[in-house]
Amino acid sequence: KSPSTAAAEAKSEAAKSVKIGIYFATWWALNVVFNIYNKKVLNAYPYPWLTSTLSLACGSLMMLVSWATKIAEPPKINLEFWKALFPVAVAHTIGHVAATVSMSKVAVSFTHIIKSGEPAFSVIVSRFLLGERFPPAVYLSLVPIIGGCGLAALTELNFNMTGFMGAMISNLAFVFRNIFSKKGMKGKSVSGMNYYACLSMLSLLILTPFAIAVEGPHMWAAGWKEAVSEIGPQLIWWVAAQSIFYHLYNQVSYMSLDEISPLTFSVGNTMKRISVIVSSIIIFHTPVQPINALGAAIAILGTFLYSQVSDHVNYKRGCILVL
Ligand code: 3PG
Repeated sequence: KSPSTAAAEAKSEAAKSVKIGIYFATWWALNVVFNIYNKKVLNAYPYPWLTSTLSLACGSLMMLVSWATKIAEPPKINLEFWKALFPVAVAHTIGHVAATVSMSKVAVSFTHIIKSGEPAFSVIVSRFLLGERFPPAVYLSLVPIIGGCGLAALTELNFNMTGFMGAMISNLAFVFRNIFSKKGMKGKSVSGMNYYACLSMLSLLILTPFAIAVEGPHMWAAGWKEAVSEIGPQLIWWVAAQSIFYHLYNQVSYMSLDEISPLTFSVGNTMKRISVIVSSIIIFHTPVQPINALGAAIAILGTFLYSQVSDHVNYKRGCILVL
């Protein structure tokens, strides 16, 4: 290697690291803001089916406007694409609404502690439904994940079964979303940004009738009147903020998937949860007992161990696995 080639390579490596750093910082910051506004809205206006629908509607509208005004290039897609996207959208819808229902019942930090257990669901689904086999190190890494989440759940001061189950269902749904989306994206030339835009639109179509059936305009209108009388008209800005930031953080995370390996993505996602857990505890003054914090720390450490050992396995198998 000539010195000039080596210098050029080092420069492009450094540029790539800076780019990934910017993606991660943006993704986490957007996610923290989303989680704060989402919880502020849910505290005042507890209609998670509506707020989940609004987040998808807002993202869909933003992308339709971006395509129409050529801010973003519209994707070239056909019916096959939508068919492949359908199972991904069903899983995305379930995972999204379940997480929002969870956050309407428990502290944001608790939902995200349980959501840090997603790798355990990934391994269990891959093992029992897809018949994949893993070396003992992978199974061993699940011990701190499951144990840590269990300890955090048992010592949670404001435990609520719906909140717990919502986060668990969200984990399961997102594992399926990742499995289907890997199949659906194979060989497609749609960018991460446009892929997520289409996912939002299809999820919106799926979720809307269910949101109307579960909650419905009657409840929404009565609840809105009550919430505005308590909070004031700024509630509308909180709803707008949670919807816009929901779309933006997801868009950046899908865009970063174009640039980074699934492993880097999953490590980034776990670190994102740490920033959400810590910031939401500070902002909402969530009471935490030391044993509860220990459970969360063990679970998060487990997800790091999992990402390390599963990377090794995937490297050897020559395949990729997203959390
Ligand atoms: C949602 O509402 O979809 C969840 O908050 C998503 O959680 P995640 O993107 O942090 O997994």
